[in-house]
Amino acid sequence: MKRMPLIAGNWKMFKTVPEAVETATRLADACREIQNVEIMIAPAFVTLPLVAEAVKNTRVHLGAQNLYFEPEGAFTGEISADMLSTAGAEYVIIGHSERRHYFFETDEMICKKIKAAVTGGLKPILCIGETESLREQGKTFLTLDKQVSDGLQGLGPDEIKDLVLAYEPVWAIGTGKSADAAQVEEAHQYLRSLLEKQFSLDLAKTIRILYGGSVKPENINELMRITDVDGALVGGASLDVHTFTKIIKFDTQL
Ligand code: 13P
Repeated sequence: MKRMPLIAGNWKMFKTVPEAVETATRLADACREIQNVEIMIAPAFVTLPLVAEAVKNTRVHLGAQNLYFEPEGAFTGEISADMLSTAGAEYVIIGHSERRHYFFETDEMICKKIKAAVTGGLKPILCIGETESLREQGKTFLTLDKQVSDGLQGLGPDEIKDLVLAYEPVWAIGTGKSADAAQVEEAHQYLRSLLEKQFSLDLAKTIRILYGGSVKPENINELMRITDVDGALVGGASLDVHTFTKIIKFDTQL
C-alpha cells in the first residue's frame, strides 16, 4: 500500500498576515512542478483566509494549528472547526507538545478535539511523542500507547480514515537534535502496530505517520528512507521558502 508522502509546515506563532501571505505565495510558486508529495502549511489563524486565497489552485494545502472542541458558544478566545474550514483550512494539528505543555492539554481534551475536527470535516494531525525524561526512564512506548489509545478513544474506522499521526519526540523539537534513524524507525513501527491493534491492519496500512523534530534539508532523505515514515511535520525549517522547498523536494535527491 503506497501512502502519499505529506510534508507539512507548522509555522507556530511566527509571521504576520502580510508575511504569511508573501511566504505562502512564494512557496506555492516554488512548488508548482512538484508531484507525488502533498504539501501543507499551518499558519496562524488570522492569516488563514488570505493565505487560502494565495494558495488557491496550487499544490499547497492549508491547515490550522489548533481548535476548540465545542461547535460554538461563550468560549472567549477559542476557535471552532467550522470557523477553520470556512476560513480555508483542510487540516488541523491537534495535541502538539507545545499545547500539551504550555496550555495543559490532556489526552481527553485532545480526543474531543479530534472528534470535533472530524465532525467539522477537517483532517486531524494528531501529535504524540515522549519527553526526554520519559525516554530516559524507558517509557517511550508506554507514552505513545497512552497518547494514541486515549487520543483516539471511541473513534471508529470511518472517523479516522483521514487521520495523520505525527511522532514528535519532545526532546527533538527546536533543539537541532533530530531523533536518529533507528529511534524513528522503532517508534513509527510501534505506532503502526498500535493502529493495527486499535483499528485494523488495513486501516493501519493507510494512515500516514509523519516524523517531526529538527527536520532539515540535511536529514530529510535519511528520514524518508525509513519504511514507516510517510512525511514530516516541520517547524523552524518551514519558515523559509528556500529551506522548506529543499525538504519538500527530498524525493528528487533520493
Ligand atoms: P522544529 O522543526 O523546529 O524542531 O519543530 C518541530 C515541530 O514542533 C513541528 O510541529
